[in-house]
Amino acid sequence: MLNENMPIGVLDSGVGGLSVLKCLRTMLPSEDFIYLGDTARTPYGPRKEEEVRAFVEQMLCFFDEQRVKLVVVACNTLTVLGVDTLKKKHKFHLVGMSKGASLVLAASKKKNIGVFATEFTIGTGAHKKAVLAIDAKASVLPIACPKFVPLIEGEKFGSPELNEAVIEYTDKLKTKGVDTLILSCTHYPFIKNEIENALGKDVVVIDPAEETARNALKILETASLVKKNGEGKTKICFTADLERGSRLANYMLPHIKCTFELINLK
Ligand code: DGL
Repeated sequence: MLNENMPIGVLDSGVGGLSVLKCLRTMLPSEDFIYLGDTARTPYGPRKEEEVRAFVEQMLCFFDEQRVKLVVVACNTLTVLGVDTLKKKHKFHLVGMSKGASLVLAASKKKNIGVFATEFTIGTGAHKKAVLAIDAKASVLPIACPKFVPLIEGEKFGSPELNEAVIEYTDKLKTKGVDTLILSCTHYPFIKNEIENALGKDVVVIDPAEETARNALKILETASLVKKNGEGKTKICFTADLERGSRLANYMLPHIKCTFELINLK
């Protein structure tokens, strides 16, 4: 039986999901969170479906052992596999990343929308389909950005390589007159400022993390599983490079007291 005192699990291929944990932590201050980043095997974006399915199943089994009430799949590459297909025998609730389709359509004047995501996510066409399902006349330009995740995981903030990659991908949007961009990889909010600066003030950049956190809250409310009292704890687990992971966690969540643990996935 699930109960409100159980923790919430949050997972990603690496540090990206910390951008979602940040919103969840603010929206749900009394909840205990266990974050799991598979830093030993990141990035997932260039991998095959079978492989990422096996990896996410290992992470979900880890959360079975941790006796969580909800898992937030804070990774678009895993969300596009279909959250229902991941749920299987697991008892906890499961929620994936919001595709942000209504958010981008509401923000876009010209209905000329860009999507930045991993090769895997872009390959499924999931975000384009979600936007077109609401507005068939919208124009959607999906761009795979394979250079971003290794640079972010490698803490290359402010480096010439990162600047070049930002210019390479944002130029593709500029030539097509895109006026709204959705960040459909949870790593990209780490470099949201750089992307915004490169695109200029006329382009709105949207991060669907907050909408994802709201969806998580709705699931807990519907199931009467919201923990309302006390100060929640935050535990962050990585499968490799604990020191690097904790530096990136402090960068994304500077005011949050976290404990860190290196774990092995079976
Ligand atoms: N942060 C992930 C996402 O939202 C995955 C990035 C990767 O491992 O390639 O897609």
